[in-house]
Amino acid sequence: MNKFCFVIHPLSFDDIARYEPGAKGKGEPILRKIMEWMPPYAAVHVTGVRTPEGRETEGWFVAAPLLPQQLMDFPREEVYRRVLGAIEIGAQLGAQVAGLGAFTGVVGDAGITINERSPIPVTTGNSLTIAAGVQSLFRGASEMGIDPASSTAAVIGATGSIGAACVQLIAAKVKRVVLVARNETRLRKFHETVAPALPCASEYTTDLSAAVRTAQLILTATSSTQDVIEPEALQTGVVVCELSLPHDVSRRVAEQRPDVLVVEGGNMLVPGTPRFERVREPGTEFDLNLPPHTALACMSETMVLALEGRLEPYTLGRGISLERVVEISEMADRCGFELANMRAFDAAITPETLAATRAAATLRRAQDDTVKVTP
Ligand SMILES: NC(=O)c1ccc[n+]([C@@H]2O[C@H](COP(=O)([O-])OP(=O)(O)OC[C@H]3O[C@@H](n4cnc5c(N)ncnc54)[C@H](OP(=O)(O)O)[C@@H]3O)[C@@H](O)[C@H]2O)c1
Repeated sequence: MNKFCFVIHPLSFDDIARYEPGAKGKGEPILRKIMEWMPPYAAVHVTGVRTPEGRETEGWFVAAPLLPQQLMDFPREEVYRRVLGAIEIGAQLGAQVAGLGAFTGVVGDAGITINERSPIPVTTGNSLTIAAGVQSLFRGASEMGIDPASSTAAVIGATGSIGAACVQLIAAKVKRVVLVARNETRLRKFHETVAPALPCASEYTTDLSAAVRTAQLILTATSSTQDVIEPEALQTGVVVCELSLPHDVSRRVAEQRPDVLVVEGGNMLVPGTPRFERVREPGTEFDLNLPPHTALACMSETMVLALEGRLEPYTLGRGISLERVVEISEMADRCGFELANMRAFDAAITPETLAATRAAATLRRAQDDTVKVTP
């Protein structure tokens, strides 16, 4: 049986309490300080991941316990040292391939240097995240009755490892795509490179609100540690698919825009009877803040590579090939992984929630029309 490890880190102070129940009630400055000194540790033993024909893998989630902002602010070499320390723990436990969770795959050159220095091959898991995200966006469109072929899509974080590939996959199905990021030079250059081959009209802008105002389909994959999607600019009845961890969509969207369908795009159902058991408290489940049998797409990519015996640095850097996205998606299908049920803001999106979202969109459209015809 091939084995894997996956580097995790808390995305927020709430997450720290999930990782370490003893941290509840401690002040944020103290927790931040403790984490500055805390070495990596094996947090979760994953068992029971099994393909329909009975191939199995097991692995470990190894914590590099730093918050996203710490991973961005710490000296690059120190971050690499911590992430490599986590991978080395995984390798000593028997892992033959390592995945990089959330910001451990964002820092620096998106896994290239870490892979060069690692004792086992490394993947960011972004290929399967891209496949899952694009599929989730169009599933949301279908649920909201949006015809992609006559729609504008906005990709926020378009120059990123995930965003750049999403632009190309989404463009195949929509009328127009708008590319958004903050660094204008990088964005313009990326647009110049990619635009001639895109099968739809395309534009780029650093004005996020302006882009969002024109879009019916929005995919967000930024490395921001703050909210970037606020309720005000969103059109009526749109779909926002978010891949970013921590999330990009403000909680105010849930509170103020019942007509908008927000979906977490990167969750997968894991085949078999997966168990995520705490290493330090055997017999207790680790709370991934996801429904049972569900894992992130980047975790799933690492599991798929182990199941398929592809013990290689599969996804690295910021120029991910679409062939890889298609291939990992086929491998994941073959292994029995599926897109998880829709979810947002830590809760399932039920058929009733969906019906209510569609009804709120219809009502708001009628109100929008009334405002338009009122002199
Ligand atoms: N759900 C999953 O399974 C999963 C898996 C892997 C990664 N992720 C998450 O996906 C996100 C993206 O990862 P990545 O590897 O693609 O990162 P990346 O390569 O660093 O790309 C980030 C992109 O976001 C843009 N950006 C950053 N801050 C922004 C802001 N405030 N407004 C607009 N654009 C902004 C960056 O361009 P500028 O700097 O020019 O703005 C860049 O285009 C991260 O949050 C990561 O944790 C999720």
